[in-house]
Amino acid sequence: MSLTTSARRTATPARPTGSPTPTAAHGQRLDSPVLVAKDLSVTYKNGHTALSDFTLDVRPGEVVALLGHSGSGKSTLMKAVTGLAPATATQLSVDGTDIPGANAATLRAVRASTGYVFQHFNLVPQLSALTNVLTGGLHSAGPLSRAGLFSRAQREQALALLARVGLADKASARADSLSGGQQQRVAIARALMQGPSLVLADEPVASLDPRLAGSVLSLLRKIAHEDGIPVIVSLHVVDLARRYADRFVALDAGRITHAGPVASLTEDMVADIYGSPEDDDAAAESQPNAGQEATA
Ligand SMILES: Nc1ncnc2c1ncn2[C@@H]1O[C@H](COP(=O)(O)OP(=O)(O)OP(=O)(O)O)[C@@H](O)[C@H]1O
Ligand SMILES: [Mg+2]
Repeated sequence: MSLTTSARRTATPARPTGSPTPTAAHGQRLDSPVLVAKDLSVTYKNGHTALSDFTLDVRPGEVVALLGHSGSGKSTLMKAVTGLAPATATQLSVDGTDIPGANAATLRAVRASTGYVFQHFNLVPQLSALTNVLTGGLHSAGPLSRAGLFSRAQREQALALLARVGLADKASARADSLSGGQQQRVAIARALMQGPSLVLADEPVASLDPRLAGSVLSLLRKIAHEDGIPVIVSLHVVDLARRYADRFVALDAGRITHAGPVASLTEDMVADIYGSPEDDDAAAESQPNAGQEATA
């Protein structure tokens, strides 16, 4: 399988799960970071501060899981990285490009080289899987492609990406005829068609059953480990983070509360991040009618 242009640029040799980047004898990582966030804060127009003093480096080949309650700032981080949320920072850069203060053309270029994978896939339902993948390359396409006539090379690349995500036989199927897991694979192929230097996956498995969730996350991990494209993925299921991510960052009200290799994520930390089952019981007891909402 040939790599996309940007992937080639950042590619590192395949590494076993759990050892995302090579380290020198003195422990310093050899790859320079693709994402640098230092003292990143986001305050929305209404005055709400959704991210405070967030610091994180993400290097080629890493899968970083974002954990935290609803509203803790996971999506805000992803938006800030591509200039879609009002950010201040000592440094915020993607692939060496500074985001705060960047002009519109620079931000377009950063967005074009960032692959997105969303909870609800965001495919064009009436278009084929192949055409959906081809749209991932539209930012770099000439006028003919934008008019719907993709080059042979682009079609071959898109077909190869569909084969890579296990959907070679679904190229001409309409997106809305595919299962959720298949649609998310098409969305991943579309992201790769962009030749991304970074993939942002915002709750990519929240709409999938556990078996499909595993296969989608395993694919994202493969992309990181084999192509060297770092993946930042927000997840609500800690076990999935443990299984498929290299590192985790836990947020609470926009601040990092815990971070480190997933192997260092203890049950005490999980209880601190999401609350313990006893907390859930107490919350349910304090809202005795909560369970009736669905039928009200
Ligand atoms: N455009 C906005 N304007 C004002 N406040 C916002 C805006 N977008 C998000 N927020 C607020 O910022 C906080 C963080 O939101 P964010 O969407 O980043 O959370 P999240 O961790 O992704 O949550 P979830 O797990 O539910 O997706 C929340 O309190 C949210 O209401
Ligand atoms: Mg979110």
